[in-house]
Amino acid sequence: MTEIVLTSPRARGLFVLTAHPEGCRALLERQQERARAALEKPLAAAEGKTALVLGSTTFGYGSSTAIALRQAGFSRVIGIGYETAPSFRGEKLAMSSPGWYLTRTLHSRAAGQTTYLADAFSAETRDRVAADLRASGERIDLLLYSVAAPRRAHLGQEWTSALLVRGEPLDVIGLDFKSGELKPLTVAPASELQIEHTRRVMGGDDLEMWVNALLYSGLAADGMTVAALSYIGPELPPVRRMYWDGALGEAKKHIDATTRALNARLATAVGGKALTVMNPAVVTAASAAIPAMLRYMADYLGVVEGGTGRYNDPLDVGIGFARALYGDGEPWRQELDGEGRLRLDADELDAELQRAIEQAWHVREGPAPEVTRVGLERFKREYMQLYGWGVDGVDYTAACTVDPPLDEAMGVVDLID
Ligand SMILES: NC(=O)c1ccc[n+]([C@@H]2O[C@H](COP(=O)([O-])OP(=O)(O)OC[C@H]3O[C@@H](n4cnc5c(N)ncnc54)[C@H](O)[C@@H]3O)[C@@H](O)[C@H]2O)c1
Repeated sequence: MTEIVLTSPRARGLFVLTAHPEGCRALLERQQERARAALEKPLAAAEGKTALVLGSTTFGYGSSTAIALRQAGFSRVIGIGYETAPSFRGEKLAMSSPGWYLTRTLHSRAAGQTTYLADAFSAETRDRVAADLRASGERIDLLLYSVAAPRRAHLGQEWTSALLVRGEPLDVIGLDFKSGELKPLTVAPASELQIEHTRRVMGGDDLEMWVNALLYSGLAADGMTVAALSYIGPELPPVRRMYWDGALGEAKKHIDATTRALNARLATAVGGKALTVMNPAVVTAASAAIPAMLRYMADYLGVVEGGTGRYNDPLDVGIGFARALYGDGEPWRQELDGEGRLRLDADELDAELQRAIEQAWHVREGPAPEVTRVGLERFKREYMQLYGWGVDGVDYTAACTVDPPLDEAMGVVDLID
């Protein structure tokens, strides 16, 4: 194991190459404390249950929801995420993912946890997880689909998703992460082939294969729930065109169609259900990569910093998810929209908050307005924390172990070559 003092990250723009192990540990522990404070008593309907969380390893929705579920009473969480071990160039740390450190901390503190570092899209991963479940005699009560990936390979075919619009090109004044300046940008329209590729990566194909694997192998518990995370976002035209009406939205509509079909199948097969969950926009690696979303997120956070509305981070949303699904009286039934989706995005879509964000979007040139600047500062702080940087109470001048092992003795199965 290698001990190094890491005072600042290696980064290329938005792409942070090196995470801080102690920062990630502290952040995870703080989230667990917050979950303990929010869910003081277990929720009866959650007690003793087992979740399979696909996309569980970053400080995004998968891990946060899993933390909330554990605190709500789930006794087992089986997670899957794509993480590789820290790597070096000579003596220097070249790359290290927060997911490696998050997983390490989780497994050193929580029993009842198994994590597969693996490609969730591959048949080998599904076969291995199913074989392990059969061997241990466990069945899945909740399948949470929280994968966000730029590409997918399946049986020799490969697809790459496109962060593009449909129809006419979109001219928008975006926000530059590095300089903090407003900058015009044009988002090109996706071809039909690019839209199909995006659907294949971020749509419901892979989710359906996982559900089939569980159903056909008798690994779906009675009443199994399938929840697929999605985003619809505000009506603000550039954001609507970029996301819900764009290539990604086509994939998310495919998720809707998939959960509707699975809902009917699960009801018949095991008395279960499937639903899409509309989560709010949050600061994660996935949201920062979408053109126009960075400006929207900065304005959202800036408006909240100014005292209007509320921003829920992934853990707040995970706690809301656990309460909605497992609280007394099945609260989720009251939180479905007309399309049968569970809506956890009401705070983001609050009319007063959205009006204030729209005001900030009227600025089309020159320096970013105050609200955007304030929001971008908060975005950057929270974004760096996803990699363990700038976490309160962490001594960044102290040496730390940057390549702690993850192994099967700890409950981590590494299937990545
Ligand atoms: N970030 C947002 O603002 C937002 C808002 C609403 C909904 N969502 C949805 O929530 C879901 C999760 O998004 P997030 O923001 O938490 O993303 P994230 O990037 O933080 O997490 C994605 C997870 O997927 C895993 N992953 C990626 N490729 C994989 C692969 N091939 N095999 C196994 N695991 C893989 C990563 O390891 C990670 O654990 C997505 O469906 C996203 O559309 C996100």
